[in-house]
Amino acid sequence: MKRTTLPFFLLLLLHYYGIADVDGQTATQKPNVLFIMADDLGFNDLDWKDSTLHTPNLRNLAFHKNTALMTNSYVNQLCTPTRSAFMTGYYPFRVGTQAGVFLHMEPAGVPTMFPFLSENMRQLDYSTYLVGKWHLGYCKKEFLPTNRGFDYFYGFYGPQTGYFNHSADQYHRELKRVVKGLDLFEEVGNGKSVPDFSQNGVYSTDLFTDVAMSVLDNHNSTKPFFMFLSYQAVHPPLQVPRSYDKYCTRVKNRYRRIYCGMLTAMDFAIGRLVEYLKAANLYENTVIVFTSDNGGTSNFGASNAPLRGEKDTIWEGGTKTTTFVHSPMYVEEGGTREMMFHVVDWHATILSITGLEIDSYGDGINQWEYIRTNRPKFRRFQFVYNIADHGSAIRDGDYKLIVGNVDRKMSKDKNRTRLFRISSKISLTIDVLLKFQN
Ligand SMILES: *[C@@H]1O[C@H](CO)[C@@H](O)[C@H](O)[C@H]1NC(C)=O
Ligand SMILES: *[C@@H]1O[C@H](CO)[C@@H](O)[C@H](O)[C@H]1NC(C)=O
Ligand SMILES: *[C@@H]1O[C@H](CO)[C@@H](O)[C@H](O)[C@H]1NC(C)=O
Repeated sequence: MKRTTLPFFLLLLLHYYGIADVDGQTATQKPNVLFIMADDLGFNDLDWKDSTLHTPNLRNLAFHKNTALMTNSYVNQLCTPTRSAFMTGYYPFRVGTQAGVFLHMEPAGVPTMFPFLSENMRQLDYSTYLVGKWHLGYCKKEFLPTNRGFDYFYGFYGPQTGYFNHSADQYHRELKRVVKGLDLFEEVGNGKSVPDFSQNGVYSTDLFTDVAMSVLDNHNSTKPFFMFLSYQAVHPPLQVPRSYDKYCTRVKNRYRRIYCGMLTAMDFAIGRLVEYLKAANLYENTVIVFTSDNGGTSNFGASNAPLRGEKDTIWEGGTKTTTFVHSPMYVEEGGTREMMFHVVDWHATILSITGLEIDSYGDGINQWEYIRTNRPKFRRFQFVYNIADHGSAIRDGDYKLIVGNVDRKMSKDKNRTRLFRISSKISLTIDVLLKFQN
């Protein structure tokens, strides 16, 4: 199959609307995009939802007068499916990533016939950077970030590593034992990957923030940038520098106390990054997005209350996430956005942030107008939570149809079909069982 990035007609449109850099002029007026994705952040895990936590910087950003706080924002149930939906603009069941995550050392990747957002952004003359987690395949050079549209990558390829030692100590299914090894790499282009052994002992949240800032220090500002800052936090293992303990003394549960510290570390890092953008004169022209890849895991300190379920389930608690978009220059009207948003929508929406006139891309719709002005140009009424052998779910308005299993290991509900009505009010989300058949 012939490999294409943005369809030709879109590029034509670009020229038509005079957005492209046709006359060799610099295009600094295009907004930069800083897309921050937390890992496994519980729906309840911000201090405006649970006041024993401490996230002052995220709170200030989320409730800023130039922030759209998206109260019905959905993702997939797990890391690889969500990230593949974000990058491709297609639901995971279309791409082959619906079944679960790519495991450590698994020979898997997202098919290269699907262009990534980074490739399309590069085609629109953006500099493209990825710092932090990848988890979209690394068994072949073709799957590596700098072969998928990123100019630069620094971070880890697999599902998880130690926060301080950056070692991927993961159970290998075939070898039936834990395999150790550094998972911290830098790519400067064309999939040329170099391990970085020099950061042993440096906490990954701080490390990735520092790298993001140094990347922006070196950014040539004649071009706009798209930076995907993909934090390891707050995914297990539960590890945080002791200096964060003091912010979490009100948390009773021991695991949640450490998790709280990890969250505060990320919050402070994001605060530091925003200060950096201001000092570097980049803040004004940057659109900042914050979201997570899936719900949290209660065994590792997270909470998705009041939603049911958690990471790796297609309940609301696994798939609904805290998301906001902040930009004094571009988000004209702040406040909540209650319309449905799904992670597949980012691709079209971010292309639209660059100035591209686009209604949809892949399975996603362009929601930029709605985010910016609170007046929707396009509306989402339905989405697919997932379609997989294990279990599937779709949403139409307030109704959610689940076929098969919702939970991770459970197999007894394989043939069960259930219909729920979901309240879209943020504080009142309850699943009401309407119909039950077996
Ligand atoms: C790295 O840190 C993790 C988490 O503390 C630990 O489980 C693992 O054994 C460490 N790996 C190495 C190679 O030291
Ligand atoms: C930045 O990019 C412009 C346009 O490509 C180029 O002319 C200039 O030399 C670059 N500046 C630096 C410092 O690399
Ligand atoms: C599910 O349905 C299939 C096809 O109707 C049937 O063969 C299978 O036994 C059922 N499984 C369970 C666990 O009920």
